Amino acid sequence: MKTAKEWRPGMGDVQILPGSRHRPPMKKPMWIIFLVLFVCVFLIFAYIYPPKSSSTCYIFSNGRCQSIADWLPPVPAREYTDDEIASRAVIRDILNAPPIRSKNPKVAFMFLTPGSLPFEKLWDKFFQGHEGKFSVYVHASRTKPVHVSRYFVNRDIRSDQVVWGKISMVDAERRLLANALQDPDNQQFVLLSDSCVPLYTFDYIFDYLMYTNISFVDCFKDPGPHGNGRYSERMLPEVEMKDFRKGAQWFSLKRQHAIIVMADNLYYSKFRAYCQPGLDGKNCIADEHYLPTFFQIVDPGGISNWSVTHVDWSERKWHPKSYRVQDVTSELLKNITSIDVSVHVTSDEKMLLQRQVQKWPCLWNGFQKPCYLFARKFTPGTLDGLLQLFSNYSSP
Ligand SMILES: *[C@@H]1O[C@H](CO)[C@@H](O)[C@H](O)[C@H]1NC(C)=O
Ligand SMILES: *[C@@H]1O[C@H](CO)[C@@H](O)[C@H](O)[C@H]1NC(C)=O
Ligand SMILES: *[C@@H]1O[C@H](CO)[C@@H](O)[C@H](O)[C@H]1NC(C)=O
Ligand SMILES: *[C@@H]1O[C@H](CO)[C@@H](O)[C@H](O)[C@H]1NC(C)=O
Repeated sequence: MKTAKEWRPGMGDVQILPGSRHRPPMKKPMWIIFLVLFVCVFLIFAYIYPPKSSSTCYIFSNGRCQSIADWLPPVPAREYTDDEIASRAVIRDILNAPPIRSKNPKVAFMFLTPGSLPFEKLWDKFFQGHEGKFSVYVHASRTKPVHVSRYFVNRDIRSDQVVWGKISMVDAERRLLANALQDPDNQQFVLLSDSCVPLYTFDYIFDYLMYTNISFVDCFKDPGPHGNGRYSERMLPEVEMKDFRKGAQWFSLKRQHAIIVMADNLYYSKFRAYCQPGLDGKNCIADEHYLPTFFQIVDPGGISNWSVTHVDWSERKWHPKSYRVQDVTSELLKNITSIDVSVHVTSDEKMLLQRQVQKWPCLWNGFQKPCYLFARKFTPGTLDGLLQLFSNYSSP
C-alpha cells in the first residue's frame, strides 16, 4: 500500500530528489498558490460575467454555447412543488414552440371600460383604411356602450363587474384575452382603457408591435411600501419576495404570452387569494402585480419592462394626471412622443426609504425608439382637440 507520504508534493520532495535542479525552496509552492488564486479569481469573474461572445463560449463548452454556470456546481435550488413542475413544463413548451405565423396577422385592440368609449371617433379615424389588420374587443363592466364607430359595433364581449384593485380587474383582462385568442390571426393583444388615445398612425403602431418578438409589459422592482410592502408570504413557496414585481396594467402581449396567461392557474390563484386591497393590512393591487411577477418568474427576457401606454405620474398623487381641454396641445403630444427613456420611481414612506429613480432606454430590437404608442388619461372633452391635432402629431 502506498502511503500518502510518498505522493505528498512540497518542499521536501524537491530537496530529496537527487539531481533536481537547485531552486529557491519557496518558489514552486508560491507559484502553485498564485496559479490556484488566479484560477479562482478567473472562475468567480466568469461566473459573475458569463461569456457572451461565441468565441469565449467555445473555450468553455466545446462548441455548444451555454452559460458557464452549466459546468459549475449548480446553486442548490428550492424543490419545486408538483403544481410548479407541471406549470413550468406547459409554459416552457409553449414558449419554445416556434410562433405560428399567420398569413393575415392582426393586432387585437382590447378595450376595458365601464361603459361607452369617449374616443371612438378618434379610434375610427385611426382604424380607417386598415381593415383586415386589426380586431376590436370591448369589455364594458358597468353599462352597455353606445357605439358611434362601425369598428366597434357588435364588438362587446360578455362582461362582468370590475372592482378597482381587485382580482376582477385581472379576470376582465383574461376574458378579453380569451375572446381575442379565438381569432388565430391575432398576433399582438393590446389592452386599452376608455381614456386612452393613439399617438401614431395605424401603420406605425402595427409595425412597432408586430415586428418584434417581445411583449410590452411594464415590470420593475419596488422595494418600497407600494411595491414589496404589498407582498404576502402566504404566496410562498411559488411566489418569492425576490420575484415580486410591479407595473402598470396596460400591456401588449404577443400570442404565446397571451396563451400562457390563459394557461396559468397556479400563480393566478396565489394572487387571487393573497393580493387584495385591505388583506392582512396590505393594499395589494392585483392588476399591478400579477402579470409583472408572472413574467418575471416564467420569461423575464421576453418582456420589454415598460408599458407602451404613457401616463403622467409626476404630480405624485393617488391618481395620474388627467389631461383637460386646455392641456391638449401639439406641444404636449410631441413631448410625449419624444420620450425614449423609460423612468420608474420606487415608493417611499415618510423618508424611511430613499426614493429611487430607475431609468432605462426603450430598446426596440436593440435600437432606441420612442417608448409610447398610446397615452392616457384624457378627459372626454378633449376629443375635438385631439381629432383636430391627430394628423399633425401622429406622423412619426
Ligand atoms: C427586462 O428585465 C429583465 C430582468 O428583470 C431582463 O432579464 C430582461 O432582459 C429585460 N428586458 C429587456 C427587453 O431588456
Ligand atoms: C428575439 O429574437 C432575437 C433575434 O432575432 C433573439 O436573439 C432573441 O433571443 C429573441 N427573444 C425571444 C424572447 O424570443
Ligand atoms: C414639454 O417639454 C418641455 C421640456 O421638457 C417642458 O418645458 C414643457 O413644459 C412641456 N410642455 C408640455 C405642454 O407638457
Ligand atoms: C403641428 O406641429 C408642429 C410641430 O411639429 C407645430 O409647430 C404646428 O403648430 C402644429 N400645427 C397645428 C395646426 O397645431
